[in-house]
Amino acid sequence: MKVDGKPYRTVWLKAGDERVVQVINQIKLPHVFETQDVRCVEDMCRAIRDMTVRGAGLIGACAGFGMYLAALEAPDASFDLAMEKAGAALRATRPTASNLAWAVDRMLKAIAVGLSPAQQRVLAKAAALRIADEDVQHCRRIGEHGLTVIAELARSKRDAPVNILTHCNAGWLAFVDIGSATAPIYAAHDVGIPVHVWVDETRPRNQGASLTAWELGQHGVPHTLISDNAGGHLMQHGLVDMVITGSDRVTRNGDVANKIGTYLKALAARDNGIPFYVALPSSTFDFSLRDGVTNIPIEERDAAEVRFVSGKTTGGAMESVQICPDSTGARNWGFDVTPARLVSKLICERGLCDANEAAILALFPEQR
Ligand code: MRU
Repeated sequence: MKVDGKPYRTVWLKAGDERVVQVINQIKLPHVFETQDVRCVEDMCRAIRDMTVRGAGLIGACAGFGMYLAALEAPDASFDLAMEKAGAALRATRPTASNLAWAVDRMLKAIAVGLSPAQQRVLAKAAALRIADEDVQHCRRIGEHGLTVIAELARSKRDAPVNILTHCNAGWLAFVDIGSATAPIYAAHDVGIPVHVWVDETRPRNQGASLTAWELGQHGVPHTLISDNAGGHLMQHGLVDMVITGSDRVTRNGDVANKIGTYLKALAARDNGIPFYVALPSSTFDFSLRDGVTNIPIEERDAAEVRFVSGKTTGGAMESVQICPDSTGARNWGFDVTPARLVSKLICERGLCDANEAAILALFPEQR
């Protein structure tokens, strides 16, 4: 994707010093575009925890690069122990997205075949780069598969704009590039299919308002920001043709964990006969789980994220303001689970499938 015309990924090795990882600081978007150096695994853990980097695919890729940084630091004498500890620290940063633990496991497996710490460091770098590259390839394939759905809708609308509602940010900022939910949207826009995106603001951290709106704007995709509660009203009035969201974890039977509020959008879509698609790369599946509502760990974050809102003042300064009485407490669940029965189709890198175990395993037979 491009920022002001210049191509970027969301995480990469620094040109001229590949012992340093660079990321886009997403806390400052959309008002300031800034990259940040990440020099050690502790830095990477902090960046994931404070959401300098966020989004399922990106935190997976960052976990890969975090393990690479850990390999550079690990003493030869206790290399394996240091890597286990680094993996545990990365895993503990955020609990809901599968991609993070998946990437740590993959890194540990990749370096296990090395015969010396020196060789393991080389393997760690190659594996981290491979995870990032695969993330991009998978998102591109998701875009190609999802494009067929949007193209079909466009034909049925005689080329009037296809109105797509999305929640949170499952765009290129949530991955290494391209995004999951946004991939079909970018693919459609790029081939000239008229699309318009309803962007849920996505309280409390407003990833829709600050990130999805920003990246759609960078790519020139027509979009409109709406309050989180507007979607049902728009659906009742024929203003939404389809919903596409991303996911942080999908169980073997197709239950979908995604940003808090997704479940309500799925209910409203079902009530109004609007298709509800979930786009995800295979790294987001958790094939070990069946019942998402009971078994997917839901992150609970600091109540301050609900009690305060931050943004830019009319004078241009970044400020955080309190929106409730001083004495009012809050709870802040980051994700909810949409049961598989409310999902029309999953869009994966291998194609589209129904959200049920048989259909998912037909696409990923190696997980039987
Ligand atoms: O808390 P975040 O911003 O890391 O949440 C992740 C998300 O942006 C969404 O849940 C998204 O739709 C899935 S991530 C591809």
